[in-house]
Amino acid sequence: MSELSREGFCMGGRGESTPRDARTDSVAREAPGRGDLFPRPGVVSCVLLAATLVVLIPSLAAAQSCLACHGSHEFMAGVTGDSARAARLSVDPAEFASTVHGALGFSCDACHVGIGDFPHGASHRVECGGCHYREREQLAQSVHGRSHPLTGEEPATCVDCHSDHHIRRPTDPRSTVYRLTQFETCAVCHQDAERMRRFGQENVRTVTTYLNSVHGRGLLAKGLTVAPVCTDCHGERGSGAHEIQEVAEATCPMNRERVVETCGRCHAGITAQYDRGIHGEQFREGNPDAPTCISCHAEHGIQPVASPESGVNPRHISRTCTACHDQEEFNAKYGLGVARGRTFDRSFHGIALRSGQVTVASCESCHGAHEILPSSDPNSTIHADNLVATCGSCHPGIGKGVAQGRIHVVSFVDEKSAVGLAVQWFYILVIGVTVLYAVGLIALDQYRYRVVDPRRGGGRHA
Ligand code: HEC
Ligand code: HEC
Ligand code: HEC
Ligand code: HEC
Ligand code: HEC
Ligand code: HEC
Ligand code: HEC
Ligand code: HEC
Ligand code: HEC
Ligand code: HEC
Ligand code: HEC
Repeated sequence: MSELSREGFCMGGRGESTPRDARTDSVAREAPGRGDLFPRPGVVSCVLLAATLVVLIPSLAAAQSCLACHGSHEFMAGVTGDSARAARLSVDPAEFASTVHGALGFSCDACHVGIGDFPHGASHRVECGGCHYREREQLAQSVHGRSHPLTGEEPATCVDCHSDHHIRRPTDPRSTVYRLTQFETCAVCHQDAERMRRFGQENVRTVTTYLNSVHGRGLLAKGLTVAPVCTDCHGERGSGAHEIQEVAEATCPMNRERVVETCGRCHAGITAQYDRGIHGEQFREGNPDAPTCISCHAEHGIQPVASPESGVNPRHISRTCTACHDQEEFNAKYGLGVARGRTFDRSFHGIALRSGQVTVASCESCHGAHEILPSSDPNSTIHADNLVATCGSCHPGIGKGVAQGRIHVVSFVDEKSAVGLAVQWFYILVIGVTVLYAVGLIALDQYRYRVVDPRRGGGRHA
């Protein structure tokens, strides 16, 4: 298979460039979005040859003739008598010449096929896919290209994302799909409540939530081109935008089935730790209770660990873990006994943490964050043989005995022990009766002083 046809532009990419291929092809690539963002030599030469033959030669003169009228806003305003319509009908010659198609010397009728001289006949809708087969086919399979059951419309077309006469290469900072500003293009629709509701979508906060996250700030404040943009998470690596699927689809990179793999494109080290831990193991076995990256970190609103807004900040991590580990049913199902959050809250560390002392141990200090293992596993940080090291990271020189003391302070109620409960209730009863007895005595005494024999009461003696 030659390099050219594998790229899919000339061959239309049928059968060659399925999402799955794109994924396997991309394994070797380091940076996300690289590769397909930049034109490859194969594509360029192939396309340029075709463009030169088909379009270029007869086109220069034609473009000039169209621009004789359409290049002037005043002229179009004069003819149509409508400034807004004139603006749509005008094409700035200098700007057009600097777009990707203009710079290649494309004539107007390369896109406006069969428009003819003025007065124009019936106009045809521009078909970008006539040349861009691969994109057309990918888009047709995606959430944006499928006709929507509620409206019968395609949610987004080429022009919605790329514009009509301002089309530039994605690597050009002026492009509507340039990495650092791509979100603005998505926001046009995804922040438009009325439009999204027509398509049955209620959530119009995705973009703002993303912009306030560690990833969005990385992009905006630091200008990090390696921070993930919308299409890195929602698209296949390298050919992002045209293959976006609903999150509910199993093929979507943000579907539960694939989200770990997708975060792992960039966070490879942490994903490897997660894979070794019990949560990763359970996830691979298809356990729907197992947490994935977004169970602990959120989706669009991911915050740095140090931020108090983060669900994995030491102050809040116990709440994040206990969303599962304090559920009675959950603990019964896995035979994990007591609720770990409640028992942690009663421990010295738990009490100190709630009073704002963030240097004490919270769940991840003892269990780790990603490579969490059961205490029975010899590699576990909480395996009996490793506790001296685990506690010792904060308590240098801690003795084996102390380190193995109960951390999750368990009460009789937690253990549901019959003897324990009996003892507990015995004490509650004895204390209750004693208090009642004492209060009764005082009350009777007061009654005698004030009601039965007032003359012997306090007042008269004074
Ligand atoms: C003599 C001036 C003139 C020339 C030359 C001309 N146009 Fe037009 N064109 C117009 C006017 C005026 C309109 C607006 C017609 C109307 O009132 O809707 C228009 C409309 C259009 C429309 C919109 C059609 C629609 O139905 O909405 C397109 C597309 C277009 N022209 C493309 C072209 C192309 C491509 C060329 C070159 C092959 C070209 N024009 C040459 C004057 C011209
Ligand atoms: C890369 C393809 C492409 C090229 C090249 C191109 N156009 Fe267009 N043009 C479009 C698209 C897409 C639209 C939006 C309407 C549509 O989807 O049919 C459009 C719209 C227009 C309209 C307005 C139609 C309306 O009713 O809103 C005019 C006029 C027009 N083009 C003129 C030109 C002229 C003049 C040139 C040459 C200088 C040119 N176009 C080159 C793709 C192109
Ligand atoms: C007549 C054929 C033709 C039509 C129609 C056409 N294009 Fe292109 N387009 C090309 C060629 C040729 C290139 C240059 C490819 C290259 O050099 O990598 C190109 C480049 C592009 C690029 C930049 C690609 C890159 O890799 O940097 C974008 C984006 C693009 N076109 C979008 C569109 C859109 C959107 C439309 C419809 C409004 C459209 N094109 C219509 C032929 C066409
Ligand atoms: C939902 C928005 C969206 C729609 C709809 C869309 N594109 Fe794109 N397109 C992008 C983005 C974003 C990029 C930048 C690269 C990436 O992230 O995949 C891009 C890149 C491109 C490129 C550069 C080569 C590449 O694949 O990276 C071409 C060519 C292109 N688009 C053409 C089209 C054509 C033709 C259509 C219509 C059939 C279309 N696009 C529809 C958003 C869109
Ligand atoms: C770090 C990865 C990541 C980035 C970057 C990202 N998303 Fe998402 N997005 C997700 C995840 C994960 C979900 C799935 C949430 C779920 O499971 O319900 C999602 C869901 C969605 C949904 C589905 C609707 C909903 O109710 O949540 C839309 C729409 C969406 N994202 C749009 C965007 C847009 C637009 C951008 C860019 C501004 C973006 N996303 C950037 C990870 C990401
Ligand atoms: C022209 C409007 C428009 C633009 C531009 C647009 N979208 Fe969409 N998008 C929609 C609509 C409408 C839907 C809902 C379709 C559906 O639910 O079937 C949608 C659906 C989605 C979904 C699937 C949501 C789900 O339910 O799981 C994601 C993800 C998404 N878009 C991301 C993006 C990204 C990323 C961009 C920018 C590159 C973008 N969109 C640009 C209109 C748009
Ligand atoms: C069970 C909850 C949980 C899951 C699942 C989880 N994380 Fe974390 N993550 C945490 C905690 C807790 C921290 C804070 C660790 C610390 O304080 O050093 C953290 C920290 C991080 C950090 C910052 C690293 C640092 O040390 O500052 C990144 C990046 C990260 N996680 C990515 C991921 C990715 C990617 C996944 C999926 C493979 C994932 N996490 C799954 C709980 C989780
Ligand atoms: C395209 C690459 C990329 C993808 C995909 C990606 N991230 Fe990130 N992530 C980054 C970069 C780069 C940073 C650092 C941003 C900064 O420091 O400004 C980061 C930062 C983080 C942090 C904050 C770490 C800290 O210092 O506290 C967490 C947590 C995180 N990502 C989790 C995730 C999760 C979960 C996913 C999947 C839903 C994901 N990331 C997908 C590149 C990515
Ligand atoms: C989305 C639910 C969920 C969240 C959130 C979660 N876990 Fe788990 N955890 C599980 C499941 C499921 C298992 C596997 C239980 C089993 O197979 O025994 C597990 C197992 C464990 C185990 C091993 C238990 C054993 O002996 O089998 C430990 C320790 C643990 N988790 C600690 C944590 C910590 C610490 C956090 C927070 C950083 C956390 N978990 C967050 C669901 C969760
Ligand atoms: C100071 C260290 C420490 C802290 C903080 C801590 N744990 Fe533990 N955890 C342990 C030790 C030691 C064990 C094993 C002995 C036991 O079961 O008490 C354990 C056991 C567990 C188990 C059972 C795993 C097994 O294999 O037996 C779970 C689940 C668990 N902890 C969850 C949590 C959660 C959730 C938090 C935070 C709310 C937390 N732990 C905070 C040290 C700690
Ligand atoms: C992240 C650091 C950290 C880890 C890990 C840690 N602790 Fe602590 N622990 C503290 C801090 C800080 C205090 C409070 C010290 C003070 O204020 O005197 C504390 C207090 C205690 C106390 C109360 C008595 C005292 O010394 O003040 C005990 C007992 C204790 N830890 C036992 C353990 C055991 C056992 C482990 C391992 C299972 C452990 N700790 C792991 C940070 C940690």
